[in-house]
Amino acid sequence: SAAATPDSDGFLQCLWGNIPSGLIYTQGASNFTDVLASSVRNPRVFPGDTARPLCIVTAADATHVQAAVRCGRAHGVRLRVRSGGHDYEGLSSRSVLPGGEAFAVVDLAALRAVAVGSDAVWPLAPTAWVESGATLGELYYAVAKNNSELAFPAGICPTIGVGGHLSGGGIGMLMRKFGLAVDNVVDARLVNADGDLLDRAGMGEDLFWAIRGGGGGNFGIVVAWKVSLVKVPSTVTAFNVMRTVDQGAIDVLTRWQEVGPTLPVDINIRVIVMGQQLTFQSLYLGKCADVVPMLSTLFPELGMRSSDCLEMTWLQSVAFFDSWNPNAPVESLLNRRTGLSTFTKNKSDYVKQAIPKEEWQKIFGWFAMNGAGMLILEPHGGFVGTVPAPATPYPHRTGVLYNIQYIVFWPSGGDGTAATSWIGSFYDFMGQYVSNNPREAYVNYRDLDIGQNEVVNDVSTFDSGRVWGERYFAGNFRRLAAVKAAVDPTDFFRNEQSIPPLFQQG
Ligand code: FDA
Repeated sequence: SAAATPDSDGFLQCLWGNIPSGLIYTQGASNFTDVLASSVRNPRVFPGDTARPLCIVTAADATHVQAAVRCGRAHGVRLRVRSGGHDYEGLSSRSVLPGGEAFAVVDLAALRAVAVGSDAVWPLAPTAWVESGATLGELYYAVAKNNSELAFPAGICPTIGVGGHLSGGGIGMLMRKFGLAVDNVVDARLVNADGDLLDRAGMGEDLFWAIRGGGGGNFGIVVAWKVSLVKVPSTVTAFNVMRTVDQGAIDVLTRWQEVGPTLPVDINIRVIVMGQQLTFQSLYLGKCADVVPMLSTLFPELGMRSSDCLEMTWLQSVAFFDSWNPNAPVESLLNRRTGLSTFTKNKSDYVKQAIPKEEWQKIFGWFAMNGAGMLILEPHGGFVGTVPAPATPYPHRTGVLYNIQYIVFWPSGGDGTAATSWIGSFYDFMGQYVSNNPREAYVNYRDLDIGQNEVVNDVSTFDSGRVWGERYFAGNFRRLAAVKAAVDPTDFFRNEQSIPPLFQQG
């Protein structure tokens, strides 16, 4: 095919002919490295010399995205799309496919408008259009700044990009009441592999299904999303309850596994484990005077008291959960700070059967070891558990008690051996307690250890994709692969863990 041999010069000429040259950064540009680093969160995946893009296109509108796709198709140069740059394996900024490949980055950071309530049915059914390059913090701020009773359910860290996050699910503090971010997406604008710009009606329901959780970088470049907003009380209650193992934290945690996913949906309690200390990080959609008696009845083991309560707006609670500072200004959510100071490695699991107390005692032994990292446990249940698994690509629904995220970090330039070997061995040990056949994982906590595609005859193979794909998507993987075959049969949008095309047999 015409695309088999990359023609880098022809590609760049094509870009220069169709996109303002000030938006194109080639490797020789003096600020190329700065632009490449601008949103990378984890220097472990910052591209070395070999894995760098030919150029970065900082698209300022959808026509630039369309031009980049058409130039890439015509000249055999693949694209990596980047919204917030937070991919844990850096797949939006680098290519580590064996043998290397010529590729360019289409960076959407400048496509970041949020239009709240541009709809005829507003304010009865509030909605917003948000461009992919907006951060979650910018979305939350725009939604709630002028109306403290509006919110959007998505992730915690405000610098995450909307584009990647909504492509993979979006779990956060409001999900037990309102579901994942993708459960609240009602329309989208996508540039497909032919460079056409399509809305929901134009792309059809199969593709619209796939882009809401099937993982980023698979089906096209989503330039904007229409989301439905949710109603929250003007005053919510945030609180962190901390307990050490010596103070009986294991008993609280053992009980949390039963109540965390079954409490009324107005309360969400996630758990952060670091060393021998647990933090029960909580959001109640209501007042302190109501949550204290509720928890003393339903979860007395937590020992939550009125003095733990911090009453604030929902937007302030977002800034608080990010900063741990109850007085953090909501404007802090607009700060696009990133840093290259800390390396991280992340993995994930889903727990469907509560882990007994004696087993937690063994598990805590791991947190006294050299290189030990941390865990974040996110309760499911509530609304997120009532959505049927086939309704969106995110399959971890009924029966899931909670998600585990494993995180290790070490200083930039430091030796990560202790941390990476700890997370690998600990993850192996945890296998006995978590979901199996398949051992499920969350695509937004991208982990290349669980498998990478093989490319044969210039197309990613279905069998290599199944290895990791059924762990992220379970029974939805096959349908994602069939959608891929229908919309991107040449496998133009591909990466180390992209959905491979599944062609009809016979
Ligand atoms: P990035 O730009 O790196 O994109 C990620 C992937 O999507 C790449 O494959 C990319 O090519 C593709 N992509 C990006 N934009 C696209 C577009 N417009 N169209 C199509 N494909 C696109 N998750 C969660 O659910 N809840 C949480 O609370 C957190 N917390 C958290 C904290 C921190 C510090 C980090 C680093 C990450 C998280 N995450 C998370 C995970 C986060 O949801 C995940 O990394 C997202 O994919 C990041 O989206 P970005 O746009 O920032 O990433």
